[in-house]
Order: sequence, then structure tokens, then C-alpha cells
Amino acid sequence: MINKAQLNKVKPFISAQQVRRRVKELAEEISQDYAGKEVLLVGLLKGAWVFLADLIRHLTVPVQVDFMSVASYGSRTESKGAVKIELDLRSGVRGRDVLVVEDILDSGLTLSFIIRRLKRRKPKSLKLCVLLDKPARRRVLVKPDYVGFVVPNRFVVGYGADFAERFRQLPYIGYIEEEK
Ligand code: IMP
Ligand code: MG
Repeated sequence: MINKAQLNKVKPFISAQQVRRRVKELAEEISQDYAGKEVLLVGLLKGAWVFLADLIRHLTVPVQVDFMSVASYGSRTESKGAVKIELDLRSGVRGRDVLVVEDILDSGLTLSFIIRRLKRRKPKSLKLCVLLDKPARRRVLVKPDYVGFVVPNRFVVGYGADFAERFRQLPYIGYIEEEK
């Protein structure tokens, strides 16, 4: 349970209903684009699992799901550029239609690293789906194929996204208020 003092720091920004609607729309778009194919969804832990869990329930194409976890070294709210695979896929990628699913595209360092690694394994296609995109923060070029919402340069939590491992359970997306 989140206590009141913690919740008071979170300012709701994208409602649970808006999130639900947008996730369904994304799933419909993905289902159309991949009609007749089977997709390997690669969820990035831990941020993406809530989004991925809702997304797959609206997909009408056959899917397989696997996960990767990467660690980036930096401060609590920023990645510095050093990225390492902590948990790799168990599935083979060669010749498959792969869709990477992530909660937030920020500097792009994490995703550019993952994309580079996965490309070496020769997928048939490789696309990227992010729930939130913060283009103002980009440091390396990463172009997502599916974006839920474009958000400003603020730290957000909820629907899988955390601040120091908290707030993942919120059904909406909120900003963290800076401590005064
Ligand atoms: P990047 O490598 O800078 O693009 O960082 C992306 C990762 O940092 C994502 O996987 C997120 O989990 C995390 N991240 C970036 N911005 C936020 C945020 O506002 N809230 C929570 N996590 C974030
Ligand atoms: Mg993450």
C-alpha cells in the first residue's frame, strides 16, 4: 500500500481511463500492422510489464512474450550511458518479427543499446513501442514506431513506472512533485 504522504507527492497527469483507451488503440494499430504474422514481444523489466500485460490482451495477432532487463548506471532519475544486460531473452530472435515494449523513452541510451544488441541477432523485423516518449530529453537518436503519449520533461510514475521502486501500482500516470 502507498501511504498518504507518498501519494500527496504525485500529481495525476494522464488518467487511468486515458491510459486504457490509448493502450487499446495502440494494440489495434499493432494488430493491423502485423496481420498474418506472429510477433515476439520483448518487454523491458521492470517498467514495461504493466503496460505489456494490458497491451497483449487487446492484440488479435498471435504473440509470444519474453523479457529482458538492463541496468544503467547513473543517478536515481537519470541514466548516464553505461548499460548492461542483467537478464537476457530465452527466446531466439533470428528471423522473427520482434517488437520491443518499453515504458518510457527518455535519453534513448537504454533503447539504442537494446536495439543494437537485438539487431545483431538478425530478426526479420524489429520495431519499438513505448508508452511514454520524452523527446526533449533525447541524447541519442531513437525513433519509436508506436508511442502512447508524448510527455514533457518531468519525472513521471505509475502504470509500471517507478520512483525508487515505488508507485508502479498506480493505474494512472502522475508527476512527482519536487521536494521543497
Ligand atoms: P533512457 O535510457 O534515458 O532512455 O531511460 C529510459 C529508462 O529510464 C526507462 O526504462 C525508464 O524506466 C526510466 N525512466 C526514464 N524517465 C523516467 C521517468 O520519468 N519515470 C520513471 N522512470 C523513468
Ligand atoms: Mg525502465
